[in-house]
Amino acid sequence: MAKIIQVGKKDSRYEVVIGKNTITRTRLASHLKSKNKILVITDSGIPKKYIKELKTALGFNKQVHFHMIPCGEESKSFATYISIQEKLADLKFDRSDSMIAFGGGVVGDITGFCAATYLRGINFIQIPTTLLSQVDSSVGGKTAINIKQGKNLVGSFNNPSMVLINSKYLEALPEKEFKSGLGEVAKYAFIGNKKLYKILQENSKEITQRNLNILEQIIEESINTKSKIVTKDEKEAGVRAILNFGHTFGHAIEAFNNYKGITHGAAVTLGMSIAAKISYFEGHIKIHQLDNIINLIDSLGLDSNYEKYKFKDLKKYLSNDKKVSSGKLNLILINSKGIAFKTDKFQEESLKRPFN
Ligand SMILES: NC(=O)c1ccc[n+]([C@@H]2O[C@H](COP(=O)([O-])OP(=O)(O)OC[C@H]3O[C@@H](n4cnc5c(N)ncnc54)[C@H](O)[C@@H]3O)[C@@H](O)[C@H]2O)c1
Repeated sequence: MAKIIQVGKKDSRYEVVIGKNTITRTRLASHLKSKNKILVITDSGIPKKYIKELKTALGFNKQVHFHMIPCGEESKSFATYISIQEKLADLKFDRSDSMIAFGGGVVGDITGFCAATYLRGINFIQIPTTLLSQVDSSVGGKTAINIKQGKNLVGSFNNPSMVLINSKYLEALPEKEFKSGLGEVAKYAFIGNKKLYKILQENSKEITQRNLNILEQIIEESINTKSKIVTKDEKEAGVRAILNFGHTFGHAIEAFNNYKGITHGAAVTLGMSIAAKISYFEGHIKIHQLDNIINLIDSLGLDSNYEKYKFKDLKKYLSNDKKVSSGKLNLILINSKGIAFKTDKFQEESLKRPFN
């Protein structure tokens, strides 16, 4: 049985469906009318058999078009954005037509932004195919493209009308992409989801072996946490900031590496190890809590060892972080109850201590 989670308030409310066979004709037809056009955006790395299955499920509609973009972060660009907008215009899409994002976070982010801006907004649905996009980027309505000055600098908040999560897609996912998503899953456990923490502790082997039933449980718990937070704070005016646990140093590590050779989730996992240590040095958690966090990361086969990064290497990127407001760096830390909080009150020295 598929699990359904409601996300968002009133008019912007949408369903997230989680299961093994969620991509059905009935579900798709409930949001995509047979007489209206559909443009599916996907990328060159998505296994062809999944694209074929989606085409079959969309068989009720005779006006389905596919647009393939090259896989990789480079596709979250203005050039790709324009190529998609021109395709929509060439196909004479109007406001009753729809888009589908069929891929990972790259496809989801650019499709959502195209849907937000074409004719000032058309309907779109998310079918995320990576673990990271299933537990994170497909839910919450953030859409964006990159410009040379930085990642995700141009975008909008735009909720999809539905998110369909098929756990079977994870069977084909390369190990490093799987681990990237797992890092974000661990984050939800560390910022306050106790049930998820327990599932991760008790099932680390099944998770690393990609047992789909357990994966569906951790996806569900991740979305439970994310949906509660983004429903309360749709546009990141407050509590949503805690979703950035591990991201201050994670973003710095990604930027230091020029966004190459390390996935977002792997960088965030290192960032969480650093943020957990700062939480300890600041007296918010006890040593055994810090040990538990590092042990959980390690038991999931993720890397908690950030030894090769020096504070002086990362420092300049910290000041670029989105969590700096009025010139003051905000950190997301955790307390002894295992709850995350945002603060700009910490000893300058605590930032450096994890690297000593
Ligand atoms: N909008 C948000 O809230 C949000 C949150 C987190 C991250 N993001 C964004 O998400 C992006 C990263 O997303 P991602 O980690 O999903 O990476 P991705 O979209 O680049 O996908 C990773 C790789 O996996 C391949 N792939 C996808 N599904 C597959 C499958 N089922 N089997 C085999 N291969 C598959 C893709 O072709 C790609 O090569 C970044 O641009 C980041 O900024 C957005």
